[in-house]
Amino acid sequence: MQDRLESLATRAREEIGRAEDAGQLEALRVRYLGKKGELSAVLGAMGKLPADERRRVGELANGVKAEVEGLLAKAQARLADTALEAELNAPPIDVTLPGRGRPPGRRHVVSRTLEEVTRTFQRLGFDVVQSPEIELDLYNFESLNIPADHPARDMQDTFYVHADWLQVDPGAIVLRTHTSPGQVRTMLGQKPPVRVVVPGKAYRVDSDATHTPMFHQIEGLLVDKHVTMAELKGTLNSFVAAFFGPERRTRFRPSFFPFTEPSAEMDVSCAGCNGKGCRLCKGTGWLEILGSGMVHPNVFAAVGYPEGEYTGFAFGMGIERVAMLRYGLDDLRSLFENDVRLLEQF
Ligand code: DAH
Repeated sequence: MQDRLESLATRAREEIGRAEDAGQLEALRVRYLGKKGELSAVLGAMGKLPADERRRVGELANGVKAEVEGLLAKAQARLADTALEAELNAPPIDVTLPGRGRPPGRRHVVSRTLEEVTRTFQRLGFDVVQSPEIELDLYNFESLNIPADHPARDMQDTFYVHADWLQVDPGAIVLRTHTSPGQVRTMLGQKPPVRVVVPGKAYRVDSDATHTPMFHQIEGLLVDKHVTMAELKGTLNSFVAAFFGPERRTRFRPSFFPFTEPSAEMDVSCAGCNGKGCRLCKGTGWLEILGSGMVHPNVFAAVGYPEGEYTGFAFGMGIERVAMLRYGLDDLRSLFENDVRLLEQF
């Protein structure tokens, strides 16, 4: 038993002397001094020894325990010294190095464009109203003179919202496919004169280089007595001059929308090439940014405005289009890839 204790002490001295880090040291402490360690094993076997023998071995064992504890403490101090030494010898901190900057974040270029466009219409006298993104088919289509089964519905592939607990017809609720239902909600809530813009998101089952399933629009609506297409053109031209600068030209092309008659689309001369033709405008020199027209009498009827008393104009502008035109971007999808190298340029 005495031999066992001596060999234990010898091994402990050697191994603790070699320990290279705190982890190894802790493992050795457990091995030698732990509850199930080697010293405990020796002490456990001591009960069988005769009394005087037991005392002698007990003293020896206590001596070994004290020595191992001392060795461990010394090794710990040694390791701490080495660590400190290493730290002191490390290359000094270079206080002249420029710090690591935390560049301030910024709002997305689409959000900022939407906000700027909205503000420009506010300066032209329009009120800003919000309208829900989850919308009734009734307001998104029906009230806008787009009845069920009308071919015009195919122009807008729709996301329908349905759950059994809603207890409504599966086609009754949609993600709005345009901001135009904002017109309906506004007119249901107030009598003319009406002069509002409705900025926000719209959704369509659509995805390619020029379409994303979620996109942004701003709707405009002006209703009063004797509003004509001259006001429509004047207002939109003023917007273009204020937003893009006086050097941009515009053109109106006849078009079709069920909720306006007559209808027109408006193009703005391309910023990339100043109208000469480039990749951005696909060689045409023009970029379409909105649909517009004079509010259809059926829409006035749907919101309960008296027949023949009012006229009005409306428009729906694509915000991503405006952002592309403003900043000369040639792929709409780049706006949604969220690559900071692109986004931080604006
Ligand atoms: N809602 C149409 C669309 O998303 C755009 C539009 C066209 C809005 C004519 C209007 C309008 O208000 O008068 O394609």
